[in-house]
Amino acid sequence: MKLKNPRLVRSLQTAYSAERAASFAYIGHAASLRNPEDVEAIRRIEQDEWDHRREVRAIMDAYQVPVSRWLEWKYWWIGRLIGLSCHLIGKFMPYFFAGKLESGNVCEYFVMMKEFRELGINRHDEALYEMGVREKEHEVYFLGMIKGASWLPLFEKVFSWGVEQSANDVDLDDLLGVDRADAYCRKFRSGVR
Ligand SMILES: [Fe+2]
Ligand SMILES: [Fe+2]
Repeated sequence: MKLKNPRLVRSLQTAYSAERAASFAYIGHAASLRNPEDVEAIRRIEQDEWDHRREVRAIMDAYQVPVSRWLEWKYWWIGRLIGLSCHLIGKFMPYFFAGKLESGNVCEYFVMMKEFRELGINRHDEALYEMGVREKEHEVYFLGMIKGASWLPLFEKVFSWGVEQSANDVDLDDLLGVDRADAYCRKFRSGVR
């Protein structure tokens, strides 16, 4: 079966390529850190992103969605450049921008889940839900690493992400189950990154 929703196709292709960019970025981020606990945490997150890439690919293959060469190329560079920049921009900014990116990724997966459901396809619900929740965990981790930082209030104002602002409405302490997850991200149907 081929997917008829072009936005969903593009979302899958983008997620597939962007997950590798995230992994590359976290390889650079981990290499720029000294504290072994912090390094370990970033390595785990890097592994999550490789897992996501594999899961997204499995979904794409089920519907013969091709990998986009353009997006692979674009996100290869984005990932490498962000990874390199982690060595140059101090400690605060890699955490901040990782958290902001993760914040945006959360709804990507919930919106994809909804778009599959609209096509009458429920078999990816669990996988997409789990990936959305995992991205939320990443967001919360990164925010926790910079919560008291003196730069945060200014960055939050400029980039609209931080203690008060998020790009999603998922609350890890009060998670809706997969059956009720349609309630998430109603205002955040941004679609393709
Ligand atoms: Fe991911
Ligand atoms: Fe993530």
